[in-house]
Amino acid sequence: MIRSDIKALAAYHVPDSGGMIKLDAMENPFAMPDGLREQLSTMLEAVDINRYPDADMAELRGKIAAHAGVNADQILLGNGSDEIIQMILITICPGTCVVPLPTFVMYDLVSHWLKRPVASVPLSADFSLDADHFLQVCAREKAEVAFLACPNNPTGNLWPETTIRKIAEGFNGLLVIDEAYGPFAERNHTHLIADNVMILRTFSKLGWAGLRLGYLVGEAEQIAHMNKVRMPYNINALTQTSASFLLDHFDLFEQQAADIRAERERVMTSLSGMDAVEVFASQTNFVLIRVADADAVFEQLKQRNILIKNMNSTRGLLANCLRITIGTGRENDAVLKALEEILI
Ligand SMILES: Cc1ncc(COP(=O)(O)O)c(C=O)c1O
Repeated sequence: MIRSDIKALAAYHVPDSGGMIKLDAMENPFAMPDGLREQLSTMLEAVDINRYPDADMAELRGKIAAHAGVNADQILLGNGSDEIIQMILITICPGTCVVPLPTFVMYDLVSHWLKRPVASVPLSADFSLDADHFLQVCAREKAEVAFLACPNNPTGNLWPETTIRKIAEGFNGLLVIDEAYGPFAERNHTHLIADNVMILRTFSKLGWAGLRLGYLVGEAEQIAHMNKVRMPYNINALTQTSASFLLDHFDLFEQQAADIRAERERVMTSLSGMDAVEVFASQTNFVLIRVADADAVFEQLKQRNILIKNMNSTRGLLANCLRITIGTGRENDAVLKALEEILI
């Protein structure tokens, strides 16, 4: 009954983080201020959860569109950007999906669920991306869709605009530019939107991971087609109400993103001063480092109640790499102190 390739898969594993300093999932570490939390609670009390939510979400899409500088009919909402990756891969004609290696795992995973072949283009040792090679692979595979996380997860770097533009202009299929870490980066790519270029964004990294809300920006006609495979009522009523309210207080989250960027620079400076650590450039809310024995460092941090992400099992370019989400100042101090102790 069950497909053999699905039987062979492992379920997405989320480690237990109870009581730990949680620096493994690129969440915003700041709790919402009390006043705002109370106002949000009052709004949520008024939600009629016996009714299905607004299916069209015109008002919410309008608010997000204004925020993104586009029209409401250019916005598609998803239950996290993960769900939008799925909608994209359902909508696009059968054919190969091209992704860099390493990159965010869901492009590959969802492609496999949907029986779509995947071709990976390895990054260089410094995590740079060769646009010509990427386009050659797209042409060789007659690819229909490609994803570029800009900045990339888990490497943290942002490829030059010339690289992205070259791929956007030279690829015949749909290029999805995933800006999950856009709030922490020096540029976005809204200006590249075209019939074959869409931008994927999420509110998860900005502070609303628990709400599960992402959006796709593209040409209105393409968005209308993608909308046909959206599950009815995919954004629940509590999320719709929360997001609409929080968008009116967006400056708070933008300030938090600025604080996280400043903390990232401080953490990277401290890490760069450690002889046993190689630090990679980051335009995200996490830092990728390489140490001599990542498994041992990961375990020793865990014993000190600090949870980060061990990338070592993926081997290749990520051998002995650890990904550390930027937390509050105190959390960052704790991880820096622990690393100093472990790596002496
Ligand atoms: C590059 C990238 N895109 C998308 C996502 C998924 O985000 P969401 O929480 O909106 O599903 C992530 C999550 O880590 C990510 O790293």
